[in-house]
Amino acid sequence: MLEANSGLHIPEHVGIIMDGNGRWAKKRALPRSVGHKYGAQNFRKITRYISKQGVKVLTLYAFSTENWKRPAEEVGALMKLFRQYLVDSLTDFREDDIKVVFIGDRSAFDSKLVELINESEEVAKDRKGMLLNIAMNYGSRDEILRAVKMISRDVRDNKLDPDKITEEDISSRLYTANLPDPDLIIRTGGEFRLSNFMLYQSAYSEFYSTETLWPDFHEEDFDNAVMEYNRRNRRFGGV
Ligand code: IPE
Ligand code: IPE
Ligand code: MG
Repeated sequence: MLEANSGLHIPEHVGIIMDGNGRWAKKRALPRSVGHKYGAQNFRKITRYISKQGVKVLTLYAFSTENWKRPAEEVGALMKLFRQYLVDSLTDFREDDIKVVFIGDRSAFDSKLVELINESEEVAKDRKGMLLNIAMNYGSRDEILRAVKMISRDVRDNKLDPDKITEEDISSRLYTANLPDPDLIIRTGGEFRLSNFMLYQSAYSEFYSTETLWPDFHEEDFDNAVMEYNRRNRRFGGV
């Protein structure tokens, strides 16, 4: 538990690329969908732990705009898990005052799932604790494209002068508008890539990759990431 370790700087915004469910299942000769089930269980436990550590914003990458390429059976199993976990989240996280928000393009989901997403956000909207962004059908290129379209419309309608467009005009049109950029991005499963996660926002994020597969990523693994983060020297281009 990090609280005992006084003096540690807790990152304000943490992003997690929850990867490795399939390999976790494969190691046990189980279907990939079982790995996703254990991954989803872990998501609830670790979220509550992270909120207790004082993190203000947690963004979890649950399903990318590219994950539709997977076999229909796997996508179907994931959608079923999302529905199940959304139902649970209607009451879950209340105790920890966690505010749930979904980022990504929800128009691709079936109407029942969209309804659940809206309901989960509604029930949590006045909570004051950690903000939990669940990135579902999220892709950073798609997010940037969406912002470019919004800006183009504002230019066309004479609301924005093209010569005066600022970085703030871009960031305020991303799903993460008004949020601080991620300080720390954790990727489980051992890869060193962003896979279309917060490309614009991560310009100065610290990146932490661990071999640990997502269903095995527990409290002490998060603590290790924060301790490593505390050893980094963030210069933001300065000296
Ligand atoms: C992450 O685990 C979950 C999603 C991308 C939905 P994977 O399913 O990518 O697991 P691996 O990388 O194949 O082990
Ligand atoms: C990234 O994992 C997406 C999520 C964790 C939701 P992937 O398994 O889709 O990434 P790649 O294919 O290894 O880059
Ligand atoms: Mg993967």
